[in-house]
Amino acid sequence: MSIIHRPRRLRVSAGIRSMVQETTLTAANLVYPLFVVPGTNVKKEISSLPGNFHLSSDKAVELAKEVYDLGIPAVLVFGLPEYKDERGSSAWDMSSPVQQAILGIKQAVPDLVVISDVCLCQYTSHGHCGLLNGHKVDNDPTLPLLAAVALSHAKAGADMVAPSDMMDGRVAAIREELDRSGYSDVSIMSYAAKYASGYYGPFRDAADSTPQFGDRRAYQMDPANSREALKEVALDIEEGADIVIVKPALAYLDIVRQVKDQFMLPVAAYNVSGEFAMVKAAAAQGFIDEERVVMETLVGMKRAGADIIITYHALDAVRWLKS
Ligand code: PBG
Ligand code: ZN
Repeated sequence: MSIIHRPRRLRVSAGIRSMVQETTLTAANLVYPLFVVPGTNVKKEISSLPGNFHLSSDKAVELAKEVYDLGIPAVLVFGLPEYKDERGSSAWDMSSPVQQAILGIKQAVPDLVVISDVCLCQYTSHGHCGLLNGHKVDNDPTLPLLAAVALSHAKAGADMVAPSDMMDGRVAAIREELDRSGYSDVSIMSYAAKYASGYYGPFRDAADSTPQFGDRRAYQMDPANSREALKEVALDIEEGADIVIVKPALAYLDIVRQVKDQFMLPVAAYNVSGEFAMVKAAAAQGFIDEERVVMETLVGMKRAGADIIITYHALDAVRWLKS
């Protein structure tokens, strides 16, 4: 009997396999998150995110330089503030760690793209992403505050702002504020489809942003929904988003693919803290080969349609790509 189709023929050697490889992951696809804290000369490993650090703004600048030298084009900056209050006012304070880090990075490494996370949860005493009205997160009064945060980041030199709060209408509010203030070239990378996820656990430890009561299900999305994600993306695009994020990544790669196929703009997948921590924990136990699993995961995200991958593995991944 002769078998006509033998797909294995194209797998017989490394040379042939490389010719028919459909997806390529490169350093240029990656964004590395940074956590900036008050003080100077602080570089402290984050226990829930091994190999990642709490950095004072001076140390954030040093690490940003390393990131750039590795060929990673961008960082996503998160801040832990000096003080918290009901309104999260340290979020738009130009002297807060994030604004200072952005200034420092743009001065020292001007060609590194600086993306800043725009939200209130690290800055509010209650840990929710918006203003409270009783126990409810109040959408509309939160919008001007988010716009003020975005503007403060733009003033510090951010190239892109990334609202992660999931308030309705925030992309429009931010776009209007940026344009009015002369920052029409600052892009918006919106967390358009952001799910209420158990995978954010390690991040909330790292960013000290766990809600003090309740959860985020009244503003983040239900993991069971996909059409709703497409609606969120469509609305953010209408409001002026330049890039959209799907978050988390692994349990939502079908969403990444649908967004990629249905919309004409770059898609980012956020390989979130819990996804990272699971790989690290399993590798530390010797259950998996960390390099193989990380590279397989990242290429899977690209194959699903992600143009950009935000990942705590970025530095390791690039070192592995080079070796
Ligand atoms: C806060 C924010 C979260 C993440 C990014 N920005 C967590 C949350 O919504 O509580 C998650 C990132 C991660 O888990 O890696 N708006
Ligand atoms: Zn938030």
